[in-house]
Parts: sequence; structure tokens; C-alpha cells
Amino acid sequence: MIKEPYLVICISTNHMLRAVGLIEKHYPHQLVPVPAEYGYICNTAIRVNGADVAAIKDMLAAKRVAVEGYYRENRRPLQGLLARLESLTLSGNILSIMQKIEKGMDLQKAELVTLLAATGQDMEAVFITADMMRKELISDVVDIRAAVEFSNYCKKNCTYCGLRRDNKTLVRYRMTPEEIIDIAKEMKAMGHHTIILQSGEDPWYTTEKMLEIIRGIKRETNMRITLSIGEWSRDEYKLFREAGANNYLLKIETSNPQRFAEIHPDDEYKTRLEHTKWLKELGYITGSGNMIGLPKQTVEDIADDIILMKDSGTHMIGLGPFLPAENTPLAQEKPGDYDLSLKTIAVARIYLKNVFIPSTTALATLVPEGLQRGLEVGANTIMYNLTPSQHRGNYVIYSDKAVIDLEKTVAAVRAAGRRVPSSLRI
Ligand code: 5AD
Ligand code: SF4
Repeated sequence: MIKEPYLVICISTNHMLRAVGLIEKHYPHQLVPVPAEYGYICNTAIRVNGADVAAIKDMLAAKRVAVEGYYRENRRPLQGLLARLESLTLSGNILSIMQKIEKGMDLQKAELVTLLAATGQDMEAVFITADMMRKELISDVVDIRAAVEFSNYCKKNCTYCGLRRDNKTLVRYRMTPEEIIDIAKEMKAMGHHTIILQSGEDPWYTTEKMLEIIRGIKRETNMRITLSIGEWSRDEYKLFREAGANNYLLKIETSNPQRFAEIHPDDEYKTRLEHTKWLKELGYITGSGNMIGLPKQTVEDIADDIILMKDSGTHMIGLGPFLPAENTPLAQEKPGDYDLSLKTIAVARIYLKNVFIPSTTALATLVPEGLQRGLEVGANTIMYNLTPSQHRGNYVIYSDKAVIDLEKTVAAVRAAGRRVPSSLRI
């Protein structure tokens, strides 16, 4: 437990890593995203106990680690929360948690579980609180990002996913580097600043091919690049980073190692965590997230998922319902619960504060107004799809996947009473 938290922010990732090496020998600490108001000097900050700051300062100065500053971490009081909730009849548990949130106090796991289990007016209060937190920390502008799903081949066999290698019914496709770079140019012309490259784990894309794609996009558009292409080696992550990739999405899906093993025949929980750590070390802004409603998953598991996001300093948190996919081992399972999916977004916002949380395609697939509703309960970004139309219908990670295009995205943003980025030409 970190008390009276301070953030140590270094002038570069290199210095941050040296600082971590020194601090971890003697002091409790956590790695957290640098809050947006500090800019991006190094994207990871080290959270330490206030009582240790003086000693840490001396230690880092002696070892010539360049620290940008030591900042008392903002407690984020939510003034006016209780007044805002006054018209609701709340249970005692929820009310006392709301009092803590109003004062800006940290919540414990049991409290996250209570929030996730809330029903009726209690649940309404969770949604209102999350929306207030989002408004307090982030503007009303919804970040709209576009993805290209460039290959639906996958060498892995995750039991929940329609792209798994044993799904022989799927029509497979892959796009050439030139085709991908052309889409990037189109995105740039539309006013996007970031491109998300997403695919199954497709060995056709060798390290060289990926580098060609990343370098080509940088050269032609200078956009920021988000990779969502599964697990690679540390050296490859490094090469991609050096070639210009900025962000990396690698979801943990569930923080329960047993559940993780059950649904990932080709993957190891420990390895996934290790990769997440490498990505941060290499200076990526990282993304993770979970699926809600996996077989045997509990609300405690979901609270752990959210806590893991904080402890691993993840910036982008994709939370969406599990949806059964035809021709997979989980085809007959129930989809994740809609209210629980919304509460997960809300609790993530309340607990994780200033992070990117998308309102997901999965939520929109479960319930048509899901996209808008997600924005109303804590989400601040939407990722839509610019995969060429002849391929789009084949990227079926789950059945009846909603098609989220720019038009639907903008409609959801406006229906939620929010704004689209002014750079977008629509
Ligand atoms: N339901 C919901 N999300 C899924 N994904 C894959 N299969 C499903 C499913 N059946 C999501 C996972 C994964 C990404 C490829 O898509 O979160 O990371
Ligand atoms: Fe492949 Fe990713 Fe689907 Fe697993 S979740 S089968 S790695 S595309």
C-alpha cells in the first residue's frame, strides 16, 4: 500500500528505468502512467510513499538519475458528488463508498466488488459517478480512432475467438503492405492522428514486412501508430518501436491465471505479463483490457482485472462483453451481461482516473445503443473500423459483430451530448 503518494517523473525512459532499478531495492513503489497534465516526457511515473521521498531524492541524485520532478499525486476529489446523487435512494455500502470517492480517497478491492455488484439506483449512482469523474478529468471531446484489420489469419487457437486456427469455415484474407499504407494515407486525409493496425497472429507478416509497414506509414503520413498484433519477441517489439510504433495493445483478457489458461491453449499468463512489462520498458504507451462474462468468471475476477490495469500502469483499457463466436469451443456459452459490462467501464473510470477507455464494438454488438451508453458511463474514446469493405465481413472475432463506421461513431458521440475532435473532417 502506498500512502500519501508522490510521483517521481524522470526526464526520459532510460532514466526512469534506472530509477526503478534503484528504488525497487529499498522502497515500495508502483509504475503508473504519467497523468496527461505533465505531458509526455517519459510515459511512466514511479509512485512512492510520501515518507520515502526525501531519501529517494538523495539516492537518485547521488546516482545521477535525471528526475524531472517529485509531485504530490493529485487526490481527485469529486466535489458535489453526494449532492448530485441526493435524489437517489442508496444502500449504506454504496453511500459510504461515494463519500470516499467525493473526498478523493483510494478504493479497496472489496469496494470495487460492491460497485460492480450494484443494482437499481445503486447502479445508477455508479454510472453518474463515473461520468462525473470522466468530465472532471477529461474534456467532452471523444477521441475517435480508426483501425485497419489487415489480416484475419491466426496461428493461435484461443477458445473464444472466431479467428482461431481451427475455424476452417472462416474466409481468410491478408492485405499487402502497400494496401495498408494506402489506408493510412486515407486516414491521414480524414484528419486522424493515429492508426491502429490490428490482426491475428499471422506469420506471413515477418519482422521485415512489419517494419516495412511501420516505416512506410511513418514516411507517408507521420501518424502515430498503434500495434494490436499479438505476441512477438522482445527484440521485435524493440525494432517496431525504433521504426516508429508508439502504442501497443496486448490484452490480458482476464487476470485470473486459471481462467487465462483455460481459454488460451497457446499462451502463458506469465508470458503475457512479461510482454506487457517489456512493452513499457521499450517506451510504448500500452493498452490492455478484459472480456466480461467469460465462463466461470466472477465479479472478484473483474475487480482484479481493473486493479491489474492500475498496477501495470496501462493507459488504454479495452473492456467489453464476451460474445460467443460460432465454430469455436465457446459457441454455446452465454454472452456477457450488458449492465455488468457498463459497470466495469464505470468502475474502471472511477478507479483508474485519467486513462483511455473505449466504448467498444462488442458493447455495440450486444446492445445497439451500447456505443452511446458506454460514453455516458465513463468511456472517452471510440475505435471504429476502416478495413476495406470486401474484407470487413470476414474479421469475425465473434458472431454478428456490429459494423462501426465513422457515421455510427459520430452519431453515438452526438447522442451522448459529447463532441467530435475538431481535426476530423466529417
Ligand atoms: N468476445 C468478445 N471479445 C472477443 N475478442 C476475441 N474474441 C472475442 C469474443 N468471443 C476480443 C479479445 C481479443 C480481440 C482479438 O478481440 O479481447 O483481444
Ligand atoms: Fe488469434 Fe488473437 Fe483470436 Fe487468439 S484472440 S485466436 S491470438 S486473433
